[in-house]
Amino acid sequence: MPKIIVAIDGYSSCGKSTTAKLVARQLNYPYIDTGAMYRAVTLYFLQNHISLTNPRETQQALNNIHISFKRHAELGRNDTYLNGLNVEDEIRKMYVSEKVSDVSAIAEVRHALVAQQQRMGKTKGIVMDGRDIGTVVFPQAELKIFMTADPLIRAQRRQMELLEKGETVGLAEIAENLKMRDYIDTHRAESPLKQAEDAIYVDNSLMTLDEQVELVVRLADEQIGLSLRRSAE
Ligand code: DC
Repeated sequence: MPKIIVAIDGYSSCGKSTTAKLVARQLNYPYIDTGAMYRAVTLYFLQNHISLTNPRETQQALNNIHISFKRHAELGRNDTYLNGLNVEDEIRKMYVSEKVSDVSAIAEVRHALVAQQQRMGKTKGIVMDGRDIGTVVFPQAELKIFMTADPLIRAQRRQMELLEKGETVGLAEIAENLKMRDYIDTHRAESPLKQAEDAIYVDNSLMTLDEQVELVVRLADEQIGLSLRRSAE
């Protein structure tokens, strides 16, 4: 069976990761959460007081950062590791969210992470989500989804997610953080978030998770079928 690349881009907290994870499971592909990679770099920068305005210092820090993913057998999730340490819970905290858009706007950071992401998808058969997957990382991806949802629904979903992890944050603070990240993510000079011309727009405000997953899997199956027919010609 030919393998394809599924690229899912969109705003923060609109259900990309949850959908991507389940789509990957159904297709039996690995799933890469590129937001987690930017979060891990941010955590390292915060822990080591790295300047965000000194390109030499940034580059040196990047040379010391190794990010990997490992399956957590008990929780059945893919955990993010920073230099061998499991940082999955730490990178989701609010203090990291507050800085991550600034760190991910740095050109050196983007170049390093995009190169690693491209290596991960070299043999295809991957589901990756982020902000620039369909536009920069894999512009040749067979299936591109641009996902969005109503800002209030996104804030509520994020609040639930934080609550499940034991962090109580007010809706207004979350909505403000999402608004700020949307602005930085869409206005930065380096690969800003935008819909790829050939991406399929999905507003999931009124969709259940099952419906979203079903839709993306169906679209992926269509692309796999198309690739199969092409290879038979
Ligand atoms: O998906 P997330 O909210 O965990 O992503 C965290 C931040 O990382 C987001 O505000 C923007 C940045 N990001 C990015 O710039 N490019 C990506 N491919 C993924 C995330």
